[in-house]
Amino acid sequence: MENPKAFDLNDPELVSAIDELSYWSAPFGLKLLDSIRYKKGINVLDIGSGTGFPLMELANRLGDTSTIYGIDPWKAAIERTLFKIKTTGISNIKLVEACAENMPFDNDYFDLITSNNGLNNVQNLKKSLSECNRIAKNRAQFVFTYNSPDSFIEFYDVFREVINKNDLPQLNKDINTHIYSKRKPLSEYENELQLAGFEIESIKEDKFHYRFADGTAFLNHFFIKLAFLDSWKKIVPKNRRTNVFKEIEHKINDIAKESEGFNTQVPFFTISCLKDK
Ligand SMILES: C[S@@+](CC[C@H](N)C(=O)[O-])C[C@H]1O[C@@H](n2cnc3c(N)ncnc32)[C@H](O)[C@@H]1O
Repeated sequence: MENPKAFDLNDPELVSAIDELSYWSAPFGLKLLDSIRYKKGINVLDIGSGTGFPLMELANRLGDTSTIYGIDPWKAAIERTLFKIKTTGISNIKLVEACAENMPFDNDYFDLITSNNGLNNVQNLKKSLSECNRIAKNRAQFVFTYNSPDSFIEFYDVFREVINKNDLPQLNKDINTHIYSKRKPLSEYENELQLAGFEIESIKEDKFHYRFADGTAFLNHFFIKLAFLDSWKKIVPKNRRTNVFKEIEHKINDIAKESEGFNTQVPFFTISCLKDK
């Protein structure tokens, strides 16, 4: 082993690189990391590697005999990952700015493909799965996580109640379309995986609780605003949006008073497959 790099705990760059993981990504990622077959000397691909999780953790756990590729169309996140890789001295990662629908890799190249909440964000799932099959070796493991259509069900119940009360029942259909676009039913994933040539070896269902002091805290939470709030607001016509969301906030505040906070749940799946044709 080479001499370990000397880390300076007072280096602001090192501190920013350590503080690396969103709490949203962690519960999915822990289950994904538990489901992997760890081997030496393998080629690995992490799809939708974002700001470097679980890509960097995988690279550390698999060690230098393996090469871990990260793919993501998000340029700024790739730059951030490059900074963290350099700062933490990881040497077995290669980053590629591209989409899962069209991956610049040879056929039969990867022994392991992972994706932590990445595949559910692609534009074309069928094409992405067909690409995964093309670049995977025969019997390669393919493991990914995604959150189920029942995510935030407690919020959607309030959302539906408020739009119905405001004579906007037609929006229920738009809520369904929005949920489907982000979080497809498990049966659809099972079907698409089989069509793409993967044998499913296990499907695990887990969930975590996302708890808040009240609706105001929930709707102002950084990650809720970053990842979800805009798509919820767009469902409601512009001229009704402010009032509808004020009502939702008040309603959740009332719920929170009666139940010691607002408790919403995020059920998710970890699916492990093998390439079988
Ligand atoms: C919810 S984030 C997950 C990021 C990271 N894996 C994590 O666990 O924190 C989804 C990621 O998928 C990426 N993404 C979106 N469309 C994609 C596509 N077509 N192909 C590959 N990645 C994509 C996004 O840029 C983003 O980094």
